[in-house]
Amino acid sequence: MVTDDVELDIEGIEREGEGAIAGAHSTEVLSQVETEYLGKRSALTRTHRTLGGLDPEARKEAGRRLKEVRDHLATRLAERRAELAQAERSEALQADRLDLTEVIPAQVRAAPSRGRLHPVTQARAELEDVFIGMGFTVAEGPEAESDWYNFEALNIPPAHPARGMYDTMYLDIGEPETVLLRTHTSPVQIHLMEEAVRTDSLPIHAVMPGKCFRLDTPDARHLPVFNQIEGLVVDRAITFGDLAGTIQVFTESYFGEGMQSRLRPAYFPFTEPSAEFEITCTLCLGEGCRTCSHTGWIELGGCGMVDPAVFAAVGIDADVWSGFAFGFGIDRLAQMRHAIPDMRSFLENDIRFLSQF
Ligand code: PHE
Repeated sequence: MVTDDVELDIEGIEREGEGAIAGAHSTEVLSQVETEYLGKRSALTRTHRTLGGLDPEARKEAGRRLKEVRDHLATRLAERRAELAQAERSEALQADRLDLTEVIPAQVRAAPSRGRLHPVTQARAELEDVFIGMGFTVAEGPEAESDWYNFEALNIPPAHPARGMYDTMYLDIGEPETVLLRTHTSPVQIHLMEEAVRTDSLPIHAVMPGKCFRLDTPDARHLPVFNQIEGLVVDRAITFGDLAGTIQVFTESYFGEGMQSRLRPAYFPFTEPSAEFEITCTLCLGEGCRTCSHTGWIELGGCGMVDPAVFAAVGIDADVWSGFAFGFGIDRLAQMRHAIPDMRSFLENDIRFLSQF
């Protein structure tokens, strides 16, 4: 049945559809165009429903045209969708672009900041310089030591009470010998003396810096992993005066002229006589403060004349040779040099702290 509102303006629908597709400027609008021109309520679909009123020949022809138009519009739609999607993607990429050169301040770009040596490493290098200037050589030894080098050769037999202040980690590495993390740099003395005996190359004037380990609870003056610098002189007719003079020269070259030091009688199994070496606390200048436990003095290390028992352990004739030894904490030296209240600052890796040195 032909009704009056049947309009077979197929060409019109096609033109309008093409126009709408070309005019869509986003994939979102394009989807609306698709519904509008190809959907269930589109002019195409509605027109298709009216075909029943035409005669068979005209209906067939109109049906073919409608399908042609539908296919054509669908193709145009797909092409346009691809175009728009591509444009939208590059727009999004452009919008998301982050130009780091605009974010980083100009001076950082121009001059990247340089790293520097840790203050303790700097102290170690300066100490080596001071001692090299005084005629010493620099030597190193292993951080994991046998009981012999860390204790026994140093006149600390098993169960000796002096072991109490040298508690450390023991390594179970299947060695027949007991192996431990060295508690001081003094075992390097033994290595050097053994080597000198083996190669018949006495005398010895050496310093030995390196890492040491003790089961100490960290506090303002103690770290369980710390650094020492050991000194050893073995020569003919060496006296306690040589030791005291060496320590005085060292103190002034490292801390500055007029810096006060003192030796107090002490005990170490591997030196006799022995002394503790102290300097005026640089934080309170002797007044007494938390860092020096209110004594006004800071202990930097121990020293003394090499004990004949140590010479005997390595096979050096104590009637011909004599010597002195000392051992200082490098971390503590650096702490005093820069008047740092708490030694733990060295391990915190706070760049604001480290960049001051
Ligand atoms: N090794 C001793 C310590 O760490 C210090 C020391 C070294 C004492 C050399 C005397 C001679 O406590």
